[in-house]
Amino acid sequence: MIGIGIIGLGTVGTGTYKILTEYHDLLKERTGLDIRVVKIADIDLERDRGIALDKNILTRDAYEVIKDKQVDIVVELIGGTTVAYEYISSAIRHKKWVVTANKALLAEKGDEIFGLIEREGCEIGFEASVCGGIPIIRVLRDGLVGNRINYLLGILNGTSNYILTKMAEEGVNFTAALKEAQRLGYAEQDPTLDVEGIDAAHKLSILVRLAFNCPMKMEDITTRGISKVEPIDIFFAREFGYKIKLIAFAKEEKGHLIARVEPTMISLSHPMSNISGVYNGVYVVGDHVGPTLFYGKGAGGAPTGSSIVSDIVDMASRINNRNTNTKKISTGKCEYSLMEDKDIIAPYYIRVNAHDRPGVLSRISGILGEHNISISTVVQKGRVSRGYVPVVMITHEAREKDIKDAKSKIDRLPFIKGESMHMRIEEGLV
Ligand code: HSE
Repeated sequence: MIGIGIIGLGTVGTGTYKILTEYHDLLKERTGLDIRVVKIADIDLERDRGIALDKNILTRDAYEVIKDKQVDIVVELIGGTTVAYEYISSAIRHKKWVVTANKALLAEKGDEIFGLIEREGCEIGFEASVCGGIPIIRVLRDGLVGNRINYLLGILNGTSNYILTKMAEEGVNFTAALKEAQRLGYAEQDPTLDVEGIDAAHKLSILVRLAFNCPMKMEDITTRGISKVEPIDIFFAREFGYKIKLIAFAKEEKGHLIARVEPTMISLSHPMSNISGVYNGVYVVGDHVGPTLFYGKGAGGAPTGSSIVSDIVDMASRINNRNTNTKKISTGKCEYSLMEDKDIIAPYYIRVNAHDRPGVLSRISGILGEHNISISTVVQKGRVSRGYVPVVMITHEAREKDIKDAKSKIDRLPFIKGESMHMRIEEGLV
């Protein structure tokens, strides 16, 4: 028997428990393993979770799970970076193998946790930490192990993707789409982590560690969320043949690595542009396999439980055979140097609100020219509102630093209102 201890019986804990109990016999048939939940800790033992629970295995004390001799694998599902860190470290010191869905913890304390795992000769499974039900961790660690990954795009946050999809399909603004996401339970009451790109950056940092063997710090991932995207940007994106997505992006080029999360325009012909609503997707290019695409639900008790169970089964079979995973997870130094934001070169979308009068466009294009930015398309379309009209430009490839410098000069012109918007355009298949 392989004993499982669960810390945290919320949506994901309950989903995991259901799969492990309802599919106990099926898992046994498929793997020959008798996997049983032997202890569960949660602060709330009274709430009805719609499942039959054996009261004898419940406790409010997580350390009862960690210290239980019957528990081989501790599943941490409380989230956060403080108490969860203590529980996971303690479990590892008790020589337990650990499964977690905690992306924030792995993003912020990955070096400490993976280092401790290696020193103690244990293992950690974290399939559920990125993209809920999509087995992307296994793809990077196993399926694509014979490749160097040079390019990765992710739609890693379902809440932001839902909001952008709603804005595109119904023409509503960010605030209205967010309210609907909250009503449906996709977005938290405080949506900051999701809509400001932080959740996606946590997930990207985990993917980058595996795909590029690079333990990248959160502060090295430039992160911008979707809260400033306006319906008009979505309108123009469509006019130019793009969709706006919150794209997590990592790329290696000549020994330099860059990773960012930001609203990005992506061509309608790119498969990632079709990933809509709360769904997640990851597009990975390996030097041998070429482009690959993974798609599925990024959250929810059952999809995330599905990933947790896959980690448990994988570990259980190795515990049974006394066989540890020889694949290393990189900690410490990155083999690449980090590319600075200023060195990113891409086409850009720029929108400014300008007074509709002669000479305005030539001043704007003059500033762009002074910063080596060449314009490919200019459109002035839409209603004049209090004398101002949106002017939109698509540039040829330009350095981000030049775009930002030009933008701040343009924003100071007397006939420009408010802060202009710029977005990188991700052209296509690499
Ligand atoms: N809040 C996340 C999302 C799901 O909206 O995708 C959990 O990682």
